[in-house]
Amino acid sequence: MTKQTRIGKTDLVVNPIGLGTSAVGGHNIYPNLNEEVGKDLVRAAINHGVNFLDTAFFYGTGRSEELVGEVIKEAGKRHEFILATKGGLTLVGNDVAMDNSPAFLKQAVEDSLKKLQTDYIDLFYIHFPDQDTPKDEAVGVLKQLKDEGKIRAIGVSNFSLEQLKEANKDGYVDVLQGNYNLLHREAEQEFFSYTTENNISFIPYFPLASGLLAGKYNKDMTFNDLRKDMPHFQGDKFKKNLEKVEQLRKIANEKNAEVAHVVLAWYLTHDSIDVIIPGAKRAEQVLDNLKTLDVHLTEEEINEIDRIFK
Ligand SMILES: NC(=O)c1ccc[n+]([C@@H]2O[C@H](COP(=O)([O-])OP(=O)(O)OC[C@H]3O[C@@H](n4cnc5c(N)ncnc54)[C@H](OP(=O)(O)O)[C@@H]3O)[C@@H](O)[C@H]2O)c1
Repeated sequence: MTKQTRIGKTDLVVNPIGLGTSAVGGHNIYPNLNEEVGKDLVRAAINHGVNFLDTAFFYGTGRSEELVGEVIKEAGKRHEFILATKGGLTLVGNDVAMDNSPAFLKQAVEDSLKKLQTDYIDLFYIHFPDQDTPKDEAVGVLKQLKDEGKIRAIGVSNFSLEQLKEANKDGYVDVLQGNYNLLHREAEQEFFSYTTENNISFIPYFPLASGLLAGKYNKDMTFNDLRKDMPHFQGDKFKKNLEKVEQLRKIANEKNAEVAHVVLAWYLTHDSIDVIIPGAKRAEQVLDNLKTLDVHLTEEEINEIDRIFK
């Protein structure tokens, strides 16, 4: 059995390679998604030892939760899987409106329970902070839901350090999910000392920089989804990033590994990070990313990767 790891101070024990499911039913994020392909990649994951699945109401406004829920239901062993979802926002037309009020969060948890076809959620995050609700009040209602057994752990996502501190006034925050990868390393300075000191597990999203760090792209590629507006996919910046990936490829080749595995393994060397949730569009990517578990980086390699992406 794959090595399992505990997420921070929670009692959630998982394979350190989880799965991000924004491309499973996330029609508002990626155009032309095939739902069967999405369900198949979740099946491939759980059949090969992945037991930590990350979804959110926002991904396809509930569709990702529904598809993940269907696959888990069909597998029939709910307790073997750790399901994380996120709520606290609603869509008004095409616009996203945040609402972290206690009443809204309570309803969001009820809605996610239904969509996931389960009677508990292992990890529930506030997806984005809203303007008005005091952060400790928002987390307070999640603590009540935890005491009632509806959720097992409390997360926040896209919070600043100041917002995180307010949210964690009573020490109830278990996980912070934030944008972090080798091309966006701001989280190291902003969060890692606070999260480590407070035993909050940091889960990076976009760990592969939306695919750029998987080592499969070249300078002539174009994108028609959210990547077309991302700064690291633009012009000279994109080319420079690809050059860094080529430097990484040398390290990967020496280890008989692929770039994606070296990148993902590097995150797991951080004290703040217990688990990663790379996304995937096809089953083969899920299986490929599991090879990360075979990569052991030396101190020298860890520092060299750090240097390339400084
Ligand atoms: N909390 C938040 O606000 C937030 C925001 C964003 C994401 N998330 C979560 O974080 C998860 C991960 O982020 P993400 O999926 O957006 O980005 P990501 O993990 O950085 O990149 C995933 C993309 O990389 C490519 N890829 C993955 N494995 C590969 C492999 N082995 N070989 C080649 N290419 C590979 C695929 O794209 P192609 O096939 O197109 O190349 C895949 O869709 C999401 O699924 C979601 O659960 C959370």
